Amino acid sequence: MFLPVIMAGGSGSRLWPLSRHLYPKQFLALTGERTLLQDTVIRLEGLGAESPLLICNEEHRFLAADQMRAIDKEQATILLEPVGRNTAPAIALAALLATQQGQDPLLLVLAADHFIQDVARFQEAIRAAVPLAKQGKLVTFGIVPSRPETGYGYIKRGGEIGAGFAVSRFEEKPDRETAESYLATGEYYWNSGIFMFRASRYLEELKRHNPEMVAACDRAISNTQTDMHFVRIDAEAFKACPADSIDYAVMEKTSDAVVVPLDARWSDIGSWSALWEVQEQNADGNAFRGDVISIGSKNNLVHAEGRLVAVIGVEDLIVVETKDAVLIAHKDQVQKVKDVVEQIKSDG
Ligand code: GDD
Ligand code: MG
Repeated sequence: MFLPVIMAGGSGSRLWPLSRHLYPKQFLALTGERTLLQDTVIRLEGLGAESPLLICNEEHRFLAADQMRAIDKEQATILLEPVGRNTAPAIALAALLATQQGQDPLLLVLAADHFIQDVARFQEAIRAAVPLAKQGKLVTFGIVPSRPETGYGYIKRGGEIGAGFAVSRFEEKPDRETAESYLATGEYYWNSGIFMFRASRYLEELKRHNPEMVAACDRAISNTQTDMHFVRIDAEAFKACPADSIDYAVMEKTSDAVVVPLDARWSDIGSWSALWEVQEQNADGNAFRGDVISIGSKNNLVHAEGRLVAVIGVEDLIVVETKDAVLIAHKDQVQKVKDVVEQIKSDG
């Protein structure tokens, strides 16, 4: 019915110290027993999808393969990028690979690091998108926004089309003031970062707005090497590819996009406080993982990897204990975790 394309090349630096360069968040079990990547694949069961195509960095190939094997999905193809060029080229590689043998499947493009609680609703939205994608539409899935988040894309709803609405405007990561004004209209969705379209339609749109990108990806994919389930591309050709996200490169520019609402308790777990929100909390609003003792503490997230962590009389804190680093942050300031990562990088 369709080919799931799972983008797993991000770095997830806002979840330091759990998420690391060599072990980014999509490969972590943050919300349960399985990793976010594994959940992304398992969530598709029952939809009749083809075996998924994962796209990740070369460095993470064994993590990806091991995690697929652990859930009996070792038949998944893993396309390896020698460098990250953001999501527009990653999806172009997938689309080119999928159309190599003269086929033209529908692609369901998924991020590997999302939390979606209501799988039935998620599947309903995917099914509803299929006829639209078959008509040549570029379908995105929209979330009703709850705050003026500036890390998301905003989609303005137009007239009804099938199970969705025409996209009358798509704006990636607006500033705070703009986001607030969009929220006030009640006409905007957040872009979930999940898309569905025919492979050839995506390439057509990308070519129109960014021909060099498609040409570079075409060169990279015309010289592939396959060993087991890994597909390696031409590294030099791909390094020459310009970087951009699908949101800027295609979604902001196309006039053929449709938004299908997705109401499934979605989160992209973009920060520690976002993780606290989706985790199971006790009566005091605490979410604990590992060995934790709490006395008179409320609304904290405490993650203990190896040692016992005790919290006394504290509220709204994030405490993350790992072997070589400890994070203690106020829940309102967790966006600054990436500044810590920057500092570690520059300290070398
Ligand atoms: N293979 C590959 N290569 N994957 C990548 C690359 C890359 O170079 N860069 C990012 N990814 C993966 C990430 O791992 C993630 O699963 C997904 O692509 C989206 O990338 P992010 O970097 O997390 O994007 P974002 O969160 O800033 O913004 C996107 O998602 C938001 C919702 O979470 C946009 O689509 C926004 O419009 C959207 O609101
Ligand atoms: Mg993201």
